[in-house]
Amino acid sequence: MTDRELIRAAFEARKMSYSPYSGFQVGAALLAENGKIYTGCNIENAAYTPTNCAERTAFFKAVSEGVRGFQKIAVVGGRKDAKRLAYCAPCGVCRQVMREFCEEKTFRILLAVSEEEYREYRLEELLPESFGPDNLTIHAPEQKEAL
Ligand code: THU
Repeated sequence: MTDRELIRAAFEARKMSYSPYSGFQVGAALLAENGKIYTGCNIENAAYTPTNCAERTAFFKAVSEGVRGFQKIAVVGGRKDAKRLAYCAPCGVCRQVMREFCEEKTFRILLAVSEEEYREYRLEELLPESFGPDNLTIHAPEQKEAL
């Protein structure tokens, strides 16, 4: 699966964006370790806070089907009438969801404005000093004594 193909899938997913309140359309395409692509779009709500970002839609589709290993994600976003897109970085909540299921040093995040133009980040760059599943089980020596 080339980066270009994954970005194309994110552009396709963006077409499904339900964003009548912000007018900001986002699409994501998540490549799992099994080679399958899970796509997502942002889904807004009249009550605003139930809104789900494109990235989380993609993750939750995959995880709800039993898939928990991922290689990379492509994200494209911008106002629906934009002639040219700007790079759309994942929000903090989506970064934290990535942290739950992805390897910090190897998971690739592609922010694209076209199939050819994209910026690439590793999860550890976008979410440094993060809190993840390990924090709940690994304790500092002094904490261990107290347990
Ligand atoms: N949004 C995403 O779907 N992903 C991002 O990375 C940033 C923001 C959505 C949420 C909301 O529907 C709209 O963009 C404006 O914030």
